[in-house]
Amino acid sequence: MSEDLRRAFALIATGDMGGARTEASRFGLAVFDERLPLRYDSNYLLVDELPEAVSADDLVQEARRLDRPAVMVRDGRTGERLAPRFEALGWTIHRGLVMAHRRRPERTANTGLVEEVDEAALRPARRRQLAREPWATPAVVEQLLDAKLTVAQALTARFFAVLVDGEVAGYVDLYHDGRTAQIEDLATLEEHRGRGYASALVLRALQEARRAGCDLVFLVADADDWPKLLYGRLGFDELGRYLKPMRLDLSGAAHGAREQWFCTFVYEVDNQSEPKIARRPMVFTEVYLAHVTLEDWRRNPRGELGTRTATLDRAGLGKLRQNWIYRLSIDGSSKAASFGMACLARATYSGSVSTPILS
Ligand SMILES: CC(C)(COP(=O)(O)OP(=O)(O)OC[C@H]1O[C@@H](n2cnc3c(N)ncnc32)[C@H](O)[C@@H]1OP(=O)(O)O)[C@@H](O)C(=O)NCCC(=O)NCCS
Repeated sequence: MSEDLRRAFALIATGDMGGARTEASRFGLAVFDERLPLRYDSNYLLVDELPEAVSADDLVQEARRLDRPAVMVRDGRTGERLAPRFEALGWTIHRGLVMAHRRRPERTANTGLVEEVDEAALRPARRRQLAREPWATPAVVEQLLDAKLTVAQALTARFFAVLVDGEVAGYVDLYHDGRTAQIEDLATLEEHRGRGYASALVLRALQEARRAGCDLVFLVADADDWPKLLYGRLGFDELGRYLKPMRLDLSGAAHGAREQWFCTFVYEVDNQSEPKIARRPMVFTEVYLAHVTLEDWRRNPRGELGTRTATLDRAGLGKLRQNWIYRLSIDGSSKAASFGMACLARATYSGSVSTPILS
């Protein structure tokens, strides 16, 4: 691993993927943040290059033992070796591309459009942007937003926006320690895209990082998506890769893939408060109901539509997510008026059970 990549990973581990505490594991380090229990980037197993003898099953077992829903594999080769088995076990893989600023940008943008703002000023726009994700329940979204505050405790964190008629049209974060900087969480709201806002945001954050004395400025792109091309035109080159297998909370598993009505109940259990008598009752936080067809099931190598146990694919889970019939909002009030549920304090364990019905 190059020195610059090591520095980039170290900054990520301190800031964006920093937890409240760590525990040694056989394969690396387990990261925990009980303040943000639903955020994978605060609760994961961190591993680097691993010997051939270590399998995905070993890591899944270790992640399960430590109750970690994600594994951050900071070595592209190790990650790719393990990826097929993780996928066969039902985990979703995110491939990250670490890119460092190395060249003069090929495109220009009006950085004068960009203003520095408070973290809180970005929340409404971030909520809108995140709401598009199939996994974005209200509780998850708020924890992702609160994570900005924990990053700000560990590093200098600055927030930038392009405002149009006083409203946030695009935003980006800058995290740095005075030597190394990360440009992170870039987005332009859909109706404002294609006007150079993202380019302006990245170039402004880059300028600020250089001004603060950082000689290494990097960002992380999705290796499987197009924005990496935009970053290339802004002067960023690949520094390295990582893979992040994640166990998605909303499970869509059933016996046999077929057209059916499918219902999932998501619940949270307080398994940590002490004394035990103070533990909060189990709370159902979400209920989903969707009519799924054969197209909604995950294809996998063991058999086209799975063996006896079949799981919904990303689009199928998205369908389920969109068809929520009950969700407990973060302030504890139920979104479906006909359900009167007790107030939800911060829970420490979450899971889901799915059941096909009316098939
Ligand atoms: C990526 C994103 C921030 C770009 O925002 P933007 O304000 O539209 O970006 P800009 O206007 O500065 O530049 C967009 C450039 O990408 C190009 N582009 C747009 N869609 C593209 C696509 N699907 N494939 C390739 N290039 C594309 C545009 O043509 C434009 O280039 P051009 O000016 O040379 O024509 C925006 O699409 C977004 O918020 N996406 C969702 C969040 C996201 O993916 N963030 C990045 C995470 S790594």
